[in-house]
Amino acid sequence: MVFYALLLKVATLSIGLYHKDMINLILHNPTKIIFGVGVLSQLATEASKIGKHPLVMYGKSSAKTSGLSDKVKSMLSSSGLKVTEFFGVEPNPRDDTCDRAASLGRQAGCDAVIAVGGGSVMDAAKLTSACIVSGKPTWDYVTRVYPVEKALPIIMVPTLAATGSDFNSGAVITNWTMKQKFGAYSPLFFPTVSIIDPVLTTTCNRNVTAWGGVDIMIHVLETYLGTNDAHCPIPDYFSEGIVKTVMKYLPLALADGNDIVARTQLSWASAVALSGMPNGGRPGGFLLHWMEHVMSAHFDIPHGLGLAYLLVPTLSYFKENFPERHYMFTNNLMPDPAGFLESIGCDTTLEKLGIPGSSVPTMVDDLFVQKGKGDEMPGYPSFDKKWAEKIYKGRF
Ligand code: NZQ
Ligand code: ZN
Repeated sequence: MVFYALLLKVATLSIGLYHKDMINLILHNPTKIIFGVGVLSQLATEASKIGKHPLVMYGKSSAKTSGLSDKVKSMLSSSGLKVTEFFGVEPNPRDDTCDRAASLGRQAGCDAVIAVGGGSVMDAAKLTSACIVSGKPTWDYVTRVYPVEKALPIIMVPTLAATGSDFNSGAVITNWTMKQKFGAYSPLFFPTVSIIDPVLTTTCNRNVTAWGGVDIMIHVLETYLGTNDAHCPIPDYFSEGIVKTVMKYLPLALADGNDIVARTQLSWASAVALSGMPNGGRPGGFLLHWMEHVMSAHFDIPHGLGLAYLLVPTLSYFKENFPERHYMFTNNLMPDPAGFLESIGCDTTLEKLGIPGSSVPTMVDDLFVQKGKGDEMPGYPSFDKKWAEKIYKGRF
């Protein structure tokens, strides 16, 4: 529960005195965004402002295959920067991967971190930036054994429109041994600069693009669907704009991965969605995310596809418990969510996700232990283990 609550309430958006139907907030997002086609060319200039020797982090293979990593290295080196590279951050990044990256960066004497990749690389970079300084294990920060007191400056170069990690202060890290996936946050995890060049997303395949699009929409739909406030017009219009943008441009990007207009709109929607502003002033939790993180902690599924799986069954819960919000969703945005998900190739089943039905009770238990308060789910009236079980089983 804590990640998204803290992401909204502390790191990005601090709600001091909350009154129903009133807006009380502090919004502080210090990240400088450089956005647009071709802005990658500004990386070396920006990197030179924050250090002399960055640790540049990448995912498993896409940056090598596309030639992006060679390009980045050459840009940085030719500007006089010393470059140490770390390849191999996996989707649903693990704490021991961050530990290895931090150990490399620490030994090399790095003074900044640059993430070139999807949300997984960006999240790993956030933890790595703290661990390089302290030498402490990543998981101790994730589980809040220590507060993050110092971190190296970070530059993000997102290559996938999805998480918005480039414009927020959260990071989601998995401990595969413990089958736990939690959020870590710190004001020090706000990137100093994010260089968001939509061209870099044109190499994303259809699946990755579609899963990312679902993630963007859910980042604003969570509190759109699950709030009790009657008066949140600005967050509502803002969120509807983001969802409509994804619904319009995602199919275009799927039809033609090189459609730079579509890629541009998705990249901007991604950056903005979880930046604090669209949800700001509208209370509500992140039920789908809490449920999905338990799924991917156990089964290492793609985050956006897990959200897509949960959307339709969770809507039954919202329909019963937040009927006005559910009506707004179907009326203003998506009359046929199952049909939309099918049209973008995101209709799936537990079986296709590789999740045996027998694991549902464990996921339900984990959900309530990790995100609940006893048998209750804060912010979600009447959401009990039976609801969680039905949703995980996808039976409606
Ligand atoms: O690893 P490589 O080879 O780079 O391939 C990746 C990976 O297989 C590929 N990819 C990325 N950019 C590409 C590309 N392939 C071709 N061309 C490109 N330009 O895409 C695959 C998925 O990448 P990943 O980074 O895992 O995806 P995503 O951005 O969806 O990140 C998911 C992670 O972020 C967390 C999720 O829980 C998950 O761990 N989240 C982080 C959030 C945050 N920090 O604010 C919020 C989110 O709600 C989310 O929970
Ligand atoms: Zn998400």
